[in-house]
Amino acid sequence: MLDQYGRSIDYLRVSITDRCNLRCRYCMPDGAAFESHEAILRYEEILRICRAATELGLTKFKITGGEPLVRRGCSELVAAVKALPGAEQVTMTTNGLLLEQNLDALCAAGLDAVNISLDTLETEKFRQITGFPGFRREKLLALLRACCDRGLRTKLNAVLLPENREEAPALAALAADFPVDLRFIELMPIGFGGSLARVEPDAVLEGLYRVWPDLHATEEKRGNGPARYYRSAALQGCIGFIDAVSHRFCASCNRVRLTSTGQLKPCLSFDSTVDLRALLRAGCSDEELREALREGIFRKPRAHRFDLPREITEKRIMSQIGG
Ligand code: 5AD
Ligand code: SF4
Repeated sequence: MLDQYGRSIDYLRVSITDRCNLRCRYCMPDGAAFESHEAILRYEEILRICRAATELGLTKFKITGGEPLVRRGCSELVAAVKALPGAEQVTMTTNGLLLEQNLDALCAAGLDAVNISLDTLETEKFRQITGFPGFRREKLLALLRACCDRGLRTKLNAVLLPENREEAPALAALAADFPVDLRFIELMPIGFGGSLARVEPDAVLEGLYRVWPDLHATEEKRGNGPARYYRSAALQGCIGFIDAVSHRFCASCNRVRLTSTGQLKPCLSFDSTVDLRALLRAGCSDEELREALREGIFRKPRAHRFDLPREITEKRIMSQIGG
């Protein structure tokens, strides 16, 4: 459906849990509080919202968290969303730790693509960034091989941090070894991301040109998102940049978000939400649910204000929103 600025909104990011098995510094460092279990939507409730979304013309769904794979029954949910008439694509964002053991079930459920968050390939840095001491590069490579062998479209997402900026070419080289895209994500000033140093994506791109001099921008569309992509003859996949702060792409934004507690969130930057959980639990009709969704999507703000910190009204942390 179209929002008030004429943008076509066809994509819903669905956070199914605020729990995670990592503690990324910019997302949910140790000590961040969790929602109560009753506050989190049940799968039936999530499905009802997704069904209503398809009836408004939304066709693409991203299952996210926290870490979606820490919630039991995640692949059944993927299958159920995928089975909704009008749902064309169901994809997932995961930190990858639990992915390999879930791959068969997720592929059988019809998962269309997966985004794996990966900020570093170095065990010690991984521990510094995420708190997890057990990262092994070989396991990650085996996971990528398993995804590619199954024909699952796979992308890697690295949030740009002072800790990994020097490693950017090594991360990007994964797109040489595998047919996967590697996207660098500019740190957004949401939650804990607001208090950390931001690395300029354009400075990183300069470094990549030195390794792949034939790198060139490509206009091809490679997913549902706002990434700018670059190609090199030496790479199987593309290198992408998702730089919401330095290259604002709100004019072509196609998405809204559903938090794990059932709040429809039209824009990442603002705290204004529609409480779909309250509606559902008060016994609303399908038409009332659709109307609330329609209203929330229609009123989606024109643009974020990441350039003006005091105008960022969002106080939730990223694990509550789902990235
Ligand atoms: N800025 C940019 N990306 C973030 N993510 C989490 N917090 C932030 C932030 N402040 C990323 C995660 C994951 C995706 C869901 O969102 O690393 O790749
Ligand atoms: Fe977990 Fe993702 Fe947040 Fe890291 S960024 S703590 S992996 S939800």
